[in-house]
Amino acid sequence: MGFVDRAEELRFLEERAASGKAELVVVYGRRRVGKTELLRRFCSGRPHLFFVAARTTSEQLLRDFARALAELPESLLPPGAVPENWPAAFELLGTLARGRRFVVVLDEFPYLLEADPSVASSLQNLWDGALRKTQLMLVLCGSSVSVMESQVLGQQSPLYGRRTAQWHVRPLSYRDAAEFFPRYSAEDRLKAYGILGGMPAYLEQFDPGRPLADNVWSGFSAAVPCSTRRRISFSRQSCGRPPGTTPPWQP
Ligand SMILES: Nc1ncnc2c1ncn2[C@@H]1O[C@H](COP(=O)(O)OP(=O)(O)OP(=O)(O)O)[C@@H](O)[C@H]1O
Ligand SMILES: [Mg+2]
Repeated sequence: MGFVDRAEELRFLEERAASGKAELVVVYGRRRVGKTELLRRFCSGRPHLFFVAARTTSEQLLRDFARALAELPESLLPPGAVPENWPAAFELLGTLARGRRFVVVLDEFPYLLEADPSVASSLQNLWDGALRKTQLMLVLCGSSVSVMESQVLGQQSPLYGRRTAQWHVRPLSYRDAAEFFPRYSAEDRLKAYGILGGMPAYLEQFDPGRPLADNVWSGFSAAVPCSTRRRISFSRQSCGRPPGTTPPWQP
């Protein structure tokens, strides 16, 4: 399946990129809704650094971040070198965005905060100093809506008042979700949407080359949450069992 729609989200990001000033953009939304895919699409073809934080220690994250910096064509950091701390690492971002738009995505930002809560005040200090005078577009992205709302957007966050824009990524609309099943009848597309909703990660569980009933009766990945599994199981009755399928099947 290719990339579906997200035209409104991409337009929003492109407008921020064209603002001519430093941008601190917060992108959030529930797990598997398509945040990373959207941001990768936006970054493609632009000078950028895309960093996905893992759930690990601050030291390990700093090493991973240094590796990502060293891989940039600008070679700001010699391979193997690691900045002393997060402020030193973030300071390098300003150098990348001097005189030209440069996008930095910190994906899974809540993991960075979890590993080192002082990252938020380090960023705030640098933002208030050097970074806001550059052409940096810094995108902080996270799946934990509560962490993003309280620790990044909220009043108690050191970053409060610094963001220049925010976007809550929502599940795909029916029309966009239907693009996952271009050969289905309108009725089957509607049924597929009723079962799977607008979450791209679940929509891609069904094989668009197979009839709806086949998809409904075949196994599906453990990544699909219980509520969606239940809907798939319920819909088995209404879809009818395709020839050749025999119970028992996994609910
Ligand atoms: N617009 C889209 N069109 C087609 N497939 C998509 C789209 N957005 C996401 N997907 C697919 O859905 C899955 C989940 O997307 P993605 O990893 O971007 O979600 P996420 O919100 O970053 O999830 P997480 O919170 O777990 O990091 C991926 O396999 C991705 O390829
Ligand atoms: Mg992601």
